[in-house]
Amino acid sequence: MRRIRQADKLKNVRYDVRGPILQEAQRLEALGEKILKLNIGNTAPFGFEAPQPVLAAMIQHLPDSQGYSDSKGIYPARTAVAQYYQSVGITEVGVEDVYIGNGVSELITMVLQAFVDDGNEILVPAPDYPLWTGAVALSGGTPVHYRCDERNEWNPDLADIESKITENTHALVVINPNNPTGAVYSEETVRGLVDIARRHDLVLMADEIYEKIVFDDAVHHHTAKAAGDDVLCLTFSGLSKAYRVCGYRAGWVVVTGPKERASDFLEGLTLLANMRMCANVPGQHAIQTALGGYQSIDELIVPGGRFHDQIQLASRLLNEIPGVSCVPPRGALYCFPRLDPEVYPIEDDEAFVIELLREKKILVTHGRGFNWFEPDHFRLVTLPDADVLTEAIGRIADFLQVRRGS
Ligand SMILES: Cc1ncc(COP(=O)(O)O)c(C=O)c1O
Repeated sequence: MRRIRQADKLKNVRYDVRGPILQEAQRLEALGEKILKLNIGNTAPFGFEAPQPVLAAMIQHLPDSQGYSDSKGIYPARTAVAQYYQSVGITEVGVEDVYIGNGVSELITMVLQAFVDDGNEILVPAPDYPLWTGAVALSGGTPVHYRCDERNEWNPDLADIESKITENTHALVVINPNNPTGAVYSEETVRGLVDIARRHDLVLMADEIYEKIVFDDAVHHHTAKAAGDDVLCLTFSGLSKAYRVCGYRAGWVVVTGPKERASDFLEGLTLLANMRMCANVPGQHAIQTALGGYQSIDELIVPGGRFHDQIQLASRLLNEIPGVSCVPPRGALYCFPRLDPEVYPIEDDEAFVIELLREKKILVTHGRGFNWFEPDHFRLVTLPDADVLTEAIGRIADFLQVRRGS
């Protein structure tokens, strides 16, 4: 009998954040081990709760959420999203430019399926949130990674981007604030990215899901605002992070710029939205309340707030370990420290984190899981409270001490 195999189109698709390392963690858990999972940005297990009005909005609307909605999303949610972008100066957005989806994840896949032809090259940051690379590959495209520069607070290297553009390049992906580096791009960098897109006729795909999670003097600059009306920009965001409801699966993509030139692509995107009927309707009902009401996220990102204090603590403790350096994150929920190869000559970073997992019962993700070029980084989620983070980084420090032999 024929072996039942996965489709060839999955050959280059990887998602290591939930890949073999997680399987090993689950195997250890099945043996009774207690594993501290610092591998995904899932807020609920770490004691973060949804703002009460957001929860109430969804509960209130459960009875009228039984049917399919409009495939692009319910009107109040799309209006609220459009008005939010208008309020930050992206004035051209209307209700018709908003597509609601089951989180940003679904929309990334949908947009790329509608946009990419076989062999198209899509510029994706390295390191990246690996769904982007995987979804480009799944859509038949070729992800081409451009370098983000650790010595420049992980801002994208604009010259590297330019050097990688060919006649097959069709889009430039921007993840800002960035997962995994925590970079928040300067206004100059955002303008530079837009300028490249404009000169090379590329579509901008801006994943801004962490836009409200920025610390101290960091300011988030919307790509769509810099892109104005002459560069097509697709902006992705949602409720998962700033409103701590990733389980509700509520996200959106907003189209700005010369939409008339993109009418054929947008027809394709609408076709795919129609084919999946609609996004989870109860989750859609949380969107208007979330965007319009009191922004409780603001309490978490200032000194004394958990997001702020935990990320600062983690970055400081990591920098205290000999041979480890971590560019202090200015946004998002992660640290992406470097292990000096002179001190820790690691050949296989996945094997390295699996060893850490087995010995210290801590689950982190290796840098190459984010398509970073060298095996010298890992990503740590900074969601646990200060005590747990201190304990976890202490265990990592012990593990590294043995590897250094001092
Ligand atoms: C940069 C980035 N984009 C998208 C997502 C997925 O978000 P959603 O829950 O809306 O699918 C994540 C999740 O961690 C992320 O870090």
